[in-house]
Amino acid sequence: MNLILLGPPGAGKGTQAARLVEHHGMRQLSTGDMLRAAVAAQTPVGLRAKAVMDAGELVSDEIVSALIDAELTAMGESVGAIFDGYPRTAAQAEQLDGILAAHGRELDRVIELDVDEDELVRRIVGRYSCATCGAGYHDEFQRPSVSGVCDKCGSTQFKRRKDDNEETVRTRMAEYRAKTAPILPFYEGRGLVARVDGMAPIDEVTAAIESILAGD
Ligand code: AP5
Ligand code: MG
Repeated sequence: MNLILLGPPGAGKGTQAARLVEHHGMRQLSTGDMLRAAVAAQTPVGLRAKAVMDAGELVSDEIVSALIDAELTAMGESVGAIFDGYPRTAAQAEQLDGILAAHGRELDRVIELDVDEDELVRRIVGRYSCATCGAGYHDEFQRPSVSGVCDKCGSTQFKRRKDDNEETVRTRMAEYRAKTAPILPFYEGRGLVARVDGMAPIDEVTAAIESILAGD
């Protein structure tokens, strides 16, 4: 199974991808996570990407497609892939077709998480994650069961993303509207798109995605 999760910043792509990984043993390929790791490690890609990401703009198509290609090369052929935050432009969508073909994979589904933009700002500004294992949380919507302690690994250290401030979020949303949303018809024409109400509670969104995948 090869699946794209498409939706604006804060739509819940990362949250839902983590659940699919847990339930189906698939692999989450998040270009945002890969780029943040490259920035933290100060690799040449990270050094080029940092300012672009901090401004909420898009990193070049060549960089992100090369990251995806390298991850697919490193992973087992039988492991399903969840593309989270990729592709994000028409050029990336075309590059992904070529990459999948080269790896003998086929795209099974594009799930669009449909959300209201004002809610997204609330979601993003309240988001944080465990500094040790990366588990995601939210000040209001997804708190750890014991305050200040990660449910998954017990760590007490948490972090917030540098681009999670209101101004940068607005730029990220404008980028989504201008460059990413227009790729939907490319996949709609192939009958691959299923739309899910991303405004529903997290468990309900998961259930909706599971029922789409079960029907495939
Ligand atoms: P990236 O890391 O991909 O960020 P994004 O697309 O802006 O999306 P987010 O990660 O912010 O949101 P999400 O949909 O994963 O939401 P989440 O599940 O965390 O990209 C960052 C940057 O990297 C880009 O701006 C760009 O510079 C660069 N980049 C990355 N990929 C690129 C590419 N392909 N091409 C070019 N540049 C690229 O949820 C958000 C919060 O809401 C969480 O706290 C969660 O707990 C909560 N939540 C989730 N679902 C619900 C729900 N149903 N109800 C209530 N709360 C919820
Ligand atoms: Mg994410």
